[in-house]
Amino acid sequence: MKNAQAKKFKRYTITSALPYANGPIHIGHLAGVYVPADIYARYLRLKGEDVLFIGGSDEHGVPITIKARQQGVSPQEIVDKYHSIIKNSFEKFGISFDVYSRTSSPIHHQTASDFFEKLYNNKEFIERTSEQYYDEATQHFLADRYITGTCPHCGYEKAYGDQCENCGTSLSPNDLIDPKSVLSGNKPVKKETKHWYLPLDKYEPWLKEWILEGHKHDWKTNVYGQCKSWLDTGLHPRAVTRDLDWGVKVPVKGADGKVLYVWFDAPIGYISASREWSEKTGKDWEPYWKDESSRLIHFIGKDNIVFHCIIFPSMLKQEGSYILPDNVPAFEFMNLENEKISTSRNWAIWLHEYLEEFPGKEDVLRYVLTANAPETKDNDFTWKDFQTRNNSELLNIFGNFVNRTLILTQKYFDGIVPTANDFTKEDKAAEIKSFPGRIGSSLDNFRFREALTEMMALARLGNKYLTDAEPWKVFKTDENRVKTILNVSLQICANLAILCEPFLPFTAKKLSGMLNLSGLTWKDGGNTNLLEAGKQLNKAEYLFERIEDAIIEAQVQKLLDTKKENAENEIKVKPAKENIEFEDFAKLDIRIGTIIEAEKVPKTKKLLKLKVDTGMDQRTVVSGIAEFYQAEKIIGKKVSILVNLSPKKLRGIDSNGMILMAEDKNGKLCFVSPSEDFNDGSEVR
Ligand code: 2FM
Ligand code: ZN
Repeated sequence: MKNAQAKKFKRYTITSALPYANGPIHIGHLAGVYVPADIYARYLRLKGEDVLFIGGSDEHGVPITIKARQQGVSPQEIVDKYHSIIKNSFEKFGISFDVYSRTSSPIHHQTASDFFEKLYNNKEFIERTSEQYYDEATQHFLADRYITGTCPHCGYEKAYGDQCENCGTSLSPNDLIDPKSVLSGNKPVKKETKHWYLPLDKYEPWLKEWILEGHKHDWKTNVYGQCKSWLDTGLHPRAVTRDLDWGVKVPVKGADGKVLYVWFDAPIGYISASREWSEKTGKDWEPYWKDESSRLIHFIGKDNIVFHCIIFPSMLKQEGSYILPDNVPAFEFMNLENEKISTSRNWAIWLHEYLEEFPGKEDVLRYVLTANAPETKDNDFTWKDFQTRNNSELLNIFGNFVNRTLILTQKYFDGIVPTANDFTKEDKAAEIKSFPGRIGSSLDNFRFREALTEMMALARLGNKYLTDAEPWKVFKTDENRVKTILNVSLQICANLAILCEPFLPFTAKKLSGMLNLSGLTWKDGGNTNLLEAGKQLNKAEYLFERIEDAIIEAQVQKLLDTKKENAENEIKVKPAKENIEFEDFAKLDIRIGTIIEAEKVPKTKKLLKLKVDTGMDQRTVVSGIAEFYQAEKIIGKKVSILVNLSPKKLRGIDSNGMILMAEDKNGKLCFVSPSEDFNDGSEVR
């Protein structure tokens, strides 16, 4: 990547990938997107640039609907819960969004809908009818994730319509052997459905020119490489609508039951967030998106490259009134203790938990994630490294230097900035001047690790200067020299207060407070007279604390416990009971039945009162499944029922039989249903 162009921009529009609101934020998200984006936004603001830094929750998409189903709640309840956790934790962690919005908001639905409509009216989309899997029982078209079946590659029986999680192969629903609907368990049928496609193939020529010729030298190698490979392979029209009941409704006639594909609406979320910001602040959002002198930059993880470099720019370009991203600094992934971060296996460090367990140590995590930022390759977070970087770098170098400087100034000069006398060549003025330029140039080129190293080099320089100058020895013989040494050290501290702000905002604030400084900007960096002689300083406080082994061991133990739990979960299947004779089994009369009525038994948590058609009769059964199924959602469900179990009164209700349920290792229940539509009364043997 060549150095950032000299082009001067009037304002900066900085977006950070909108996280899905179906789980909290972990260190992988932070290291790959939010910490670098925040450093960049803070740096530009310090330089006096006009910045709009945008964040928000991505609240649509199939996984959210699946999670909602699993938990028996609405998708809105899921996104409300996680949006609030995510927003809160970002705030506490000092991610300095100008706006943090969400895609379930009315302003977003309106913006995304208008955007689609404009392209639709411009006849930009291709309409295509294709056959897709459909669940006749529930009358739903099935998203890929809503179809399971046997993987044709490895024989795994619970592969999804888009991927087999056992062998990792990408699949399409047509590949699955014996496909089943997740909704009813029934075999889905093929049914025609119409969708709208963005003709990416048509945009290929200008995309090639714009990316392959226009951004060969300024986009990161990983970003450019991925785009080139997509463009070399050839682009195809891409469906931007889905049959789903959660999302932004497709605003055209004949599109009932259809919503915009989540990857069509999510990036428009950046624009809706800007409009929300505009409504709140009274400032105009349009120049940030429509004026050619604005610089649009998307911070994302590597899995989002195609959407931000090819699809969203195509949408913006065809809409016609928007600028295109000038750069898309995508990061690679952060691993945890040498393993991929995994939400489902709870292999992660969750931000909201970190904030609770390490109060006041926000900057330590920001520092470690930047020092190890997965800029050009995947990288690893370990607790040991976290401890070492805190104790040996932040505490021993940065903290130690600042603390010694302030304590000595207090001791010798009552906390008043002493006058510098004759400077010697040891006094570093020239070197100090070079730091803002060096750090800034790294940041301008999205080299965050390098920028942090440069910032720490200033702390190192200060620490070494003070140690070598030994003012505590010199004081007895040459007080004037000590005044110079401490004046220089204090000027370095003041420079650190400015230059560390993008990386360590909490520390910068504390340090500025101790130095009695405010309102400094990046331009003041490098100045060696930021603190005038005679100025009264405030009381010294520690900037960092030692992190003891016990704290780290507890965190490592927490991960080991997770590992153990995962391993136990994988094998925790009860051993078989002792053998029985066939006659014992034959005594059970099990039939297929259909639930025709269901209601909660009042004042109970677990019980549902069901009416089941057994083919022979319609009978009442009380079943302990209310924690797993909502009454209204199971009407019509085919189940297996033990019909010759002696009747029993449960909570005053006569229960005639028992619904058979499978129970997993976590105690979760699910119906044992026939694999296809089967007559009530059929015997199960
Ligand atoms: O990968 C993700 O987490 C997506 N939710 C990112 C969306 S970025 C933007 F388009 F909103
Ligand atoms: Zn497989």
